[in-house]
Amino acid sequence: MDKQIILLPGDGIGREIMESARLVLTTIASEYGHKFTFHEHAIGGDAIDHYGVPLPEETIHACQEADAVLLGAVGGPEWDTVPAHLRPEKGLLGIRKSLGLFANLRPVKEFAALIHASPLKEEIVKDSDIMIVRELTGGLYFGQPSERRENGNAVVDTLYYRRSEMERIIEKGFETARIRKKHLTSVDKANVLESSRMWREIVEEKAKDYQDVKVEHLLVDAAAMKLITQPNQFDVIVTENLFGDILSDEASVLTGSLGMLPSASIRSDGVGLYEPVHGSAPDIAAKGIANPLGMILSAALMLRYSFGLEEEAAEIERSVDECLEQGFHTPDLKIREGTQVGTKKITEIVLENLTTKGISDSICNMYV
Ligand code: NAD
Ligand code: IPM
Ligand code: MN
Repeated sequence: MDKQIILLPGDGIGREIMESARLVLTTIASEYGHKFTFHEHAIGGDAIDHYGVPLPEETIHACQEADAVLLGAVGGPEWDTVPAHLRPEKGLLGIRKSLGLFANLRPVKEFAALIHASPLKEEIVKDSDIMIVRELTGGLYFGQPSERRENGNAVVDTLYYRRSEMERIIEKGFETARIRKKHLTSVDKANVLESSRMWREIVEEKAKDYQDVKVEHLLVDAAAMKLITQPNQFDVIVTENLFGDILSDEASVLTGSLGMLPSASIRSDGVGLYEPVHGSAPDIAAKGIANPLGMILSAALMLRYSFGLEEEAAEIERSVDECLEQGFHTPDLKIREGTQVGTKKITEIVLENLTTKGISDSICNMYV
């Protein structure tokens, strides 16, 4: 298979973890006889520094032409004072919107080797396997331009959703549940928000077309509580943009670290942008200790969802599992046993686990 992949490393730890994903994909390509060509482009603070804007036209164009996109992370304190419309985060929101990537799939699964890394009790975390289906191109993130009023003493952010935007993500939620355990939890705030009442109506309408899927509604505050008290009661969660953002960081606690979670931002035709759930982690940037596993697992999702390479994706996931079973972990995972290593070393372990012949020196030397 011959594929063109855009790399958007971005800011903070973005470049460090992107290098890990690139090496993993290069190894998989050589093991399975594929040709992946990588093209790097700027986004976020990196793009502001080089081009004066967080999302250059040239980056959008390259992503539109590519087979898939991998993104590291954007943002950091360096750009906290830039005008709101130029913030690094606008680059990420902009690329999701311009590619029409309305569905953000965030799998959260217990890793057996990390069961003691979570601050939650083992019996709570055990058997957790959740897919969060988050709406990605609407809601509060994309309402009318936010504004300050009354001499800066009042503020307006607008939550705007079209029915069609709710319908397509809710359908995605049902479809996802149908190929899993057929249990869909729709999360909203229908006791307060009109948008949530419309959301709930649509869920009820769509449920008629998915009689094989068991549906329940949960208010977002209760969902936040249940997520860390009875996580193994969930299968698929479907929710709007902001609730999905918050709940997915919370759910990462099940795995022991935000650095473990991958995500796929996709649209109906399989085109996708793959990005870890975490941010640019400015507090640990350039220290060589970032956890690259969420980024590596995002590359696996790219192979599965955009390229249909199930076996290769599963092989990456197996190599990550094996690395954790061998006891290797980065310092964000708070476990006493095992061996604490940095970004480069843990990547090398994953690469070794990937190859039947053992890691070749040429691949090792490609690490920059
Ligand atoms: P963050 O996710 O960057 O970091 C939160 C905490 O988790 C930090 O202590 C960090 O060190 C740790 N962490 C995150 N990823 C890690 C990894 N891979 N390995 C080890 N530790 C990891 O969230 P934040 O600090 O609130 O935000 C920092 C910046 O990132 C902000 O500018 C924010 O807007 C941006 N952000 C970007 C994305 C994205 O690009 N997708 C996502 C979230 C936040
Ligand atoms: C995420 C991030 C982004 C979001 C920010 C950086 C715009 O938190 O991908 O989860 O809120 O979608
Ligand atoms: Mn987030």
